[in-house]
Amino acid sequence: MTTETVIADEGEDTRDAVRRAVALLRAGDVVALPTETVYGLGADAFNAAAVARIYEAKDRPSFDPLIVHVAAKDKVEEVAVLAPGIARVARRLIEVFWPGPLTLVLPRNPSLPEIVTAGLPTVGVRMSANPVFAKIVKELGSPIAAPSANRFGRISPTSAGAVLSELDGRIPLIIDAGACSEGLESTIVRIEPASASGAPGKKAPRPLLTILRAGPITKENLQIYGKVVQGKRLSPETGKIEAPGQLDSHYAPRTPLRLVTDPKGFVPEQGKTYALLSYRGKRKDGYLDMADFEKVAVLSPGSGKLYEAGLRLFFLMRELDEAGVDEILAEPVSDKGLGVAINDRLRRASSF
Ligand code: TXA
Ligand code: MG
Repeated sequence: MTTETVIADEGEDTRDAVRRAVALLRAGDVVALPTETVYGLGADAFNAAAVARIYEAKDRPSFDPLIVHVAAKDKVEEVAVLAPGIARVARRLIEVFWPGPLTLVLPRNPSLPEIVTAGLPTVGVRMSANPVFAKIVKELGSPIAAPSANRFGRISPTSAGAVLSELDGRIPLIIDAGACSEGLESTIVRIEPASASGAPGKKAPRPLLTILRAGPITKENLQIYGKVVQGKRLSPETGKIEAPGQLDSHYAPRTPLRLVTDPKGFVPEQGKTYALLSYRGKRKDGYLDMADFEKVAVLSPGSGKLYEAGLRLFFLMRELDEAGVDEILAEPVSDKGLGVAINDRLRRASSF
């Protein structure tokens, strides 16, 4: 199969790209689509055979559920059930953060094909803010199931070129709307009802928001809506992996990557070549000596801006992976706000 790339530039004509994507999706095929976080590999969520093609193209294990993207806030109930006890907080989160990089894990609507949720009783659902994606899902008239458009376990693609290097020959079409504006996958949050343990006179208990995958919407952003905790690895009901984004090895380059928590511990080995993924690119705080590196990539040339670092992370990881060095060393970023999601991706990319 040849993989074609069609450009959809806002301001220019996006109609042709939208029309071609929708025609393929209607025919039960898969298409790589831009979102504000990373590129996704989409299929009509209500067409089980089309969804099966996503797993096939990605070499994705069938136990790993997909995220469903809806066209509008009021379409959430097409795929999920806003059960009593969570409906209120779910609606508030949707009102505040959609369209945007927040995926809610909610009870699944039984009419959604089981293959989408890999048999789980819940579904991950979000609404993308990318204008081209928004047009496609609206025009299709059906929600789109879309995981990141990379082979399983590899670095998520933040450009159409990156999708091509992952899935060339495996999918018919890539819609190229330029670089993703977030560059990190959505925050995944499971919502659970407040436990009814509030003693009389005490404040009403708050709903429980469990972050299953850190992302652009931070713990701080969510705190006013409920009690926020970091995710558990397995579902209490099923014992299954809840977010294989949580598998230890994920988002990994082919070149071994080492997260350097103690700069003094790094001694370059004779005859080996190294690349450095640096946060600020400055020799501050006793960080690594640039002279030891064949190639240096700086996450935040704006000297320590987490948003900039998040935006560039996967792009630079890919670039260093292609640099032909023996090992990539990465400095952690500050562990607050968006830094939590960036450090999480670096840890999972690490092979040590
Ligand atoms: O930003 C994003 O979320 C991107 C764009 C394309 O929307 N998508 C994405 O999908 O990152 P994927 O498949 O690469 O990661 C989705 C994660 C997986 O770790 C999956 O296990 C988890 O979401 N997930 C999906 N449904 C779930 C559910 N019902 N319960 C728990 N985790 C779920
Ligand atoms: Mg992924």
